[in-house]
Amino acid sequence: MTAQPRVLLIIGGGIAAYKSLELIRLLKKSGIAVRVVLTEAAQAFVTPLTAAALSGDKVYTDLFDLTDETEMGHIILSRQADLVVVAPATANMMSKLANGLADDLASTLLLATDKRVLLAPAMNVRMWHHPATQRNLATLRADGALFTGPDEGDMACGEYGLGRMSEPEAILAAIRLHLGGSEGPLKGRKIVLTAGPTFEPLDPVRGLTNRSSGKQGYAIAERLARDGADVTLISGPVALATPPGVTRIEVETAQDMYTAVHAHLPCDVFIGVAAVADWRARDIASEKQKKTSDNELSVVFVKNPDILESVSKHLEQRPRLVIGFAAETQKLEDYAKAKLASKGCDAIVANDVSEGVFGTGSNAATLVDLDGFTPIPGTTKADVADFLSAYILRRLDTLGQPV
Ligand code: CTP
Repeated sequence: MTAQPRVLLIIGGGIAAYKSLELIRLLKKSGIAVRVVLTEAAQAFVTPLTAAALSGDKVYTDLFDLTDETEMGHIILSRQADLVVVAPATANMMSKLANGLADDLASTLLLATDKRVLLAPAMNVRMWHHPATQRNLATLRADGALFTGPDEGDMACGEYGLGRMSEPEAILAAIRLHLGGSEGPLKGRKIVLTAGPTFEPLDPVRGLTNRSSGKQGYAIAERLARDGADVTLISGPVALATPPGVTRIEVETAQDMYTAVHAHLPCDVFIGVAAVADWRARDIASEKQKKTSDNELSVVFVKNPDILESVSKHLEQRPRLVIGFAAETQKLEDYAKAKLASKGCDAIVANDVSEGVFGTGSNAATLVDLDGFTPIPGTTKADVADFLSAYILRRLDTLGQPV
């Protein structure tokens, strides 16, 4: 990376393009030089003049602008930056890049660059979920592209769902991470967390799992990485993108999760967010179980290890701070307090799941620690993540040096 980090920002043609103007401002404010390219469609939403005024540099729009080619060829333009950012990355741009099309300046730069490309997708929810877009996403990921978002929420078109472009602050955080680490307050702290469900096989094609979406754990991982922590996310099977800067280890069973967690000790903080299956089948059939004339099937379950408790009670490598989650449908505070004591952790985030929190964006949570009960302000999983990040920072400050 050069002394002053440099970003080439390609603005695609979507309503979210106006947010990229704010991103230019934030980049400049953070001391990151930004050179802007507008696609033809982007110019229907923002003008080159505005982007030039904000970036303080010439804005590029046309591959066949001969003046540009003599001043700076597109190859040089694509390589002078430390990172190429596409925001908003429309479905069309993702498709073009996944398929190697180069029919305008933006797509040509994306093929010609030798730098990492970070995309901030923005599109209608159905477009995002369309198998073609998901195929393109998988191809781009396999090609090494980085992603931030999309977020879930209300869309300009009046629908709701995944497809909103990440907020400029979140894109900036992702850029900073990929430019070489965040300078956040948790820099130097190693945090390990579990997220998602586990999958306990019964035979080669069947198994037991639960409705955990992983969203809460991923939101926390994202927030902690944005605050500069070195985050390892040990995740059960979920359909979520790895947050920027986070190291993701994929596991399936509770036993695999246990092994992965212990392989990543020591750490400063451990957070058990995963909905770990308490039981697994004692005998896993090696062949697919066939139906019999008998209408009943008996499976013997044996207890899985309690990962949170094993970390909390670790004799040599107990992290300075161990935080668990509790999903309760009744007597929330009583059960959470009992879990705090029995599992030996420092804090429990107690979720009221009586009205179905799993898989949604919302939470109603309380933090329980030795000081008592603290209701967590806000209702979203991001609110819980914000609260926990501040809590961890406060607790670590009083606990001393990193591991
Ligand atoms: N947990 C774990 N390993 C397990 C079970 C749970 O690490 N085998 C962790 C979860 O990640 C969570 C906390 O323990 O942080 C609480 O899990 P929860 O399922 O609410 O509680 P249980 O201990 O399973 O108790 P119960 O099901 O009786 O409520």
